[in-house]
Amino acid sequence: MNWRKVRIFVFTLLALCLIPATRYYQIDEPLLKLLRGSNHIDPLSLHLSGEFVENNLGTEQDADGSVTVRMIAQQYLFVPHCILVPAGVPVHLKITSADAVHSLTLNGTNYAVKTLPGTVSLAELQFPRTGDYKTVCREFCGAGHYAMRSEFKVVPRDQFPALRAGERGACVLQ
Ligand code: CUA
Repeated sequence: MNWRKVRIFVFTLLALCLIPATRYYQIDEPLLKLLRGSNHIDPLSLHLSGEFVENNLGTEQDADGSVTVRMIAQQYLFVPHCILVPAGVPVHLKITSADAVHSLTLNGTNYAVKTLPGTVSLAELQFPRTGDYKTVCREFCGAGHYAMRSEFKVVPRDQFPALRAGERGACVLQ
């Protein structure tokens, strides 16, 4: 046995193992994304790129008549603050957190969606009746937890306006 060769081999192997530790965004992050599937998202770049940039937030109409709502939970608010949705159609909610663990809870319904940084939480909602639903955060997330709230406004299906990208985040009515 040639110990010199073994030693060189072992040291080379160790050196190669150290590369990922210095190349987080080139090696580790893409690898983690692959292993965790498409629900993984980088909480630090939410507002820079990807589906949670500002113009994509709020309610978007899908081709089949349902709607998709994208939201971000962060200390200590939900973005957008007010969500407009039509009654009686499936609402696909996609929400992620920019920091801590939060829980979007809709008063007057059974809906509660936990949000975690690094993960997109998916929930299927539907509102049979019109009305305003206050939402609160039900997961203690820090000093401003008790002030962390927002609102879902449910309007009749035929009155739901076609929302342009810039309007999706506000409760605008035509
Ligand atoms: Cu967010 Cu409590």
